[in-house]
Amino acid sequence: MTNGAGVGRADFVVVANRLPVDLERLEDGSQRWRRSPGGLVSALEPFLRARQGAWVGWPGVADIDVDPFAEEGLRLHPVRLSTEEMRDYYEGFSNGTLWPLYHDVVAPPVFERRWWDAYVRVNRRFAEAAAEVAGPGATVWVQDYQLQLVPAMLRERRPDLRIGFFLHIPFPPVELFMQLPWRTEIIRGLLGADLVGFHRPGGAHNFLWLSRRLAGLEPSRAAVGVRTKPGVVPFGDRVVRVGAFPISIDSAGLDALARRRDIQQRAREIRTELGNPKKILLGIDRLDYTKGIDVRLHALHELLDEGRVEAGEVVMIQLATPSRERVEHYRQMREDIEREVGRINGEFSRVGRPAVHYLHTSVDKEELVAMYSAADVMVVTPVRDGMNLVCKEYVACRYDLGGALVLSEFAGAAAELTSAFLVNPHDLDGVKNALYSALTVDPAEGRRRMRALRRQVLTHDVDRWARSFLEALGAQPHTESERD
Ligand code: ADP
Ligand code: G6P
Repeated sequence: MTNGAGVGRADFVVVANRLPVDLERLEDGSQRWRRSPGGLVSALEPFLRARQGAWVGWPGVADIDVDPFAEEGLRLHPVRLSTEEMRDYYEGFSNGTLWPLYHDVVAPPVFERRWWDAYVRVNRRFAEAAAEVAGPGATVWVQDYQLQLVPAMLRERRPDLRIGFFLHIPFPPVELFMQLPWRTEIIRGLLGADLVGFHRPGGAHNFLWLSRRLAGLEPSRAAVGVRTKPGVVPFGDRVVRVGAFPISIDSAGLDALARRRDIQQRAREIRTELGNPKKILLGIDRLDYTKGIDVRLHALHELLDEGRVEAGEVVMIQLATPSRERVEHYRQMREDIEREVGRINGEFSRVGRPAVHYLHTSVDKEELVAMYSAADVMVVTPVRDGMNLVCKEYVACRYDLGGALVLSEFAGAAAELTSAFLVNPHDLDGVKNALYSALTVDPAEGRRRMRALRRQVLTHDVDRWARSFLEALGAQPHTESERD
């Protein structure tokens, strides 16, 4: 890391709530950087590094000023948040209002005027930082629900810029969005971009409808395609495009990592450490109430109870990255999940052989890939998820065509990964049956499914996602390969 080095104005700038690295304060008073959690960073970081761009974001700790610094081809521009702003803007409006509202109100959103004021203030600060970092005529790509006011605020300051916005979480049905007291401000904030991107056409359609209803504009009415046929909203002397761009992963990179002998060796070790069960079930998530971790635990509990699954023969690993731990819904959910793990283990474990291995931690990439390689069934059961990258990562790692994927229909990825064992996470019997089918799938059928999944994931990687978005933004020349 080099302080101050190479931190002049940039032609390409990503603006996201978090930097790709998170400052961690250790007990001895020292500090270190580590990778930030979540799919946004997993997807964007490799891409931006290759492009030598700049990244404006929060370093993950309140009340700290960090100078801009350069790190392996990335120029990082930290934005300061105070303790109050972290509470009101990040934990409050972003994760207590918008996150549950945009995820189908699976938890009740809280509408708090003080939180909104902080959201406006912090968005302004990010817009100011981006305006300073971006060179003349640069492309600025604003990310996610925490920064929906930035496009308009940035345009006001820097009309010369090309501004894109991408939402990494679902954009809700209009009936839900209309609950938001500040709905018009949010829509107007997003309309500051030249291109507004969502994972799925449904999100784009919702946004087009709202721009008519709330901003009084005349958007196009034709159906929006995936990576093609964006909608258009004439807005003053500009045109805002609105499109669907399903995000993905560095598929080839993960495939290559999974093929490494040391990783395969580690995968075998994991199985041995678990006591050589016949089948390993795996869940990997941020510890978030949208991920349906409780759903899969309940399903496993009942399968064990009914004797359809034998403890000892089937073992589950649930890896849960700590997340947003000061937000009440997250605390509550953590308690519920840990209680359920305790119940299952109390009833079905033997000494030294737990039925569920629950790890409240994040692991490094090598260990993650070894786990994917070891897992016979990957269980991804969110009640709502914008995309979900974990399921794509699993598929990318299974070059051996082994393993089976159980995937919620309510993850954006389900539209692409149609050869998975698709489930409705609200239907517990359906989830149990899908788990059972995945555990007992005929090997030839399992390979057929995995081959189809891999065809999709390997040909639609994160690079293609970013290129298709930037082409639609006019920030990159078109290539024929983007159309399918
Ligand atoms: P979200 O962005 O909501 O967290 P995604 O599935 O889109 O969900 O992305 C999660 C990312 O975080 C993936 O790249 C996944 O590998 C990573 N991840 C999740 N849990 C862990 C963990 N316990 N340890 C390491 N990486 C994790
Ligand atoms: C999801 C969001 C990201 C967020 C990540 C981690 O992927 O879309 O914007 O960064 O979760 O959450 P956190 O609150 O820790 O940044």
